[in-house]
Amino acid sequence: SSPLKSIHGSFMRNGTDTLADLCVQMPESPWFSRNLLNWYRENHRALPWRSTTDPYKIWLSEVILQQTRVDQGLAYWERFVERYPTVADLAAAPEDAVLRLWQGLGYYSRARNLRTAAQQVMDEHGGHFPREYEALLGLKGVGEYTAAAIGSISFNLVEPVVDGNVYRVLSRVFGIATPIDSTAGRKEFRALAATLMDPYHPGDHNQAVMELGATVCTPKKPLCDQCPLLGKCIALKTGRIQELPYKSGKTKSRVRYFNYLDITSNQGRTLQKRNGKDIWQGLYEFPLIESTRSLGHKSMVSSIENEFGPGWTIGEKIGPVKHVLSHQVIQGTFWSCVPPKKFKRPLEWIRAPLAAVDEYALPRLIARYLEDEHTK
Ligand code: ADE
Repeated sequence: SSPLKSIHGSFMRNGTDTLADLCVQMPESPWFSRNLLNWYRENHRALPWRSTTDPYKIWLSEVILQQTRVDQGLAYWERFVERYPTVADLAAAPEDAVLRLWQGLGYYSRARNLRTAAQQVMDEHGGHFPREYEALLGLKGVGEYTAAAIGSISFNLVEPVVDGNVYRVLSRVFGIATPIDSTAGRKEFRALAATLMDPYHPGDHNQAVMELGATVCTPKKPLCDQCPLLGKCIALKTGRIQELPYKSGKTKSRVRYFNYLDITSNQGRTLQKRNGKDIWQGLYEFPLIESTRSLGHKSMVSSIENEFGPGWTIGEKIGPVKHVLSHQVIQGTFWSCVPPKKFKRPLEWIRAPLAAVDEYALPRLIARYLEDEHTK
């Protein structure tokens, strides 16, 4: 039987398709994947996760690469694989240690999910990654992108990956201006990506589209003269390379003001662990007063007194330092503070010896502040 039938939800859904349906669902002629795969075989970067089909190592690389580019991600991947060579090792790791290893990549829920998913693989799948797309989706933190990447690269499942690289390549080659930050756009590009797949080499095909987007069809100055799809590219023909992919830009970021209390003495620095359903869960930061607007010296003093009682000395202020996350912007301000003599420290405050602050998993905003301090 035709391997195309296994394309997830994109071909031969049932027996009642009209001719028009079938035309929409028919795979493109193979020019796209043939040119692309030939190019990929000659030009791809030799990366350690490309010489294995071990789903654990593939999964780690894909989760890391959702956060950063290959040149930075490689070192993280190597550290993870060295410290936790198997999914069993990662499942057994303390959360703090995993977060510390992830430090600098941001979006720490990904690191927590990694550990939880490893435990799921151990507990629910007998220590082996499931080989079906739907079962992969059941792992914590594994969405359509990651399930398609693991599935196609490790198990030859014909599932299209759609990431930022893929949006860029497809919107340009096919001249599609549907906003990529819309439901309609995501659907359209995913359907197109499915029809383009080479059913015999789904893993290489998926990696080839991403590789082209990462190395040739780059956002600002694409290297069109090196592109294997040069002759077919509608954006190039119509001078729209800079306009595509198109974003509606409707998703707005929330702005939050984090006022940090830098309480440092020769007994150490004061840290607390972030809990609750919010950003940076499980990471350590300074005691924090959050506000909805930027605070001056006076309003900071009254906020601290309101929260922790009178008698504080508030010294130097650093910031605000802007820290951009995917759906919010944090304006971080650091205030040097000395509590009153008789201050009763809240139970959740810990004193980290100055030389040991490095061992805690810290949000990038805090880590950068500490680094800047050392170089002052
Ligand atoms: N970006 C994320 N995953 C990738 C992969 N497997 N190949 C190329 N670029 C990628």
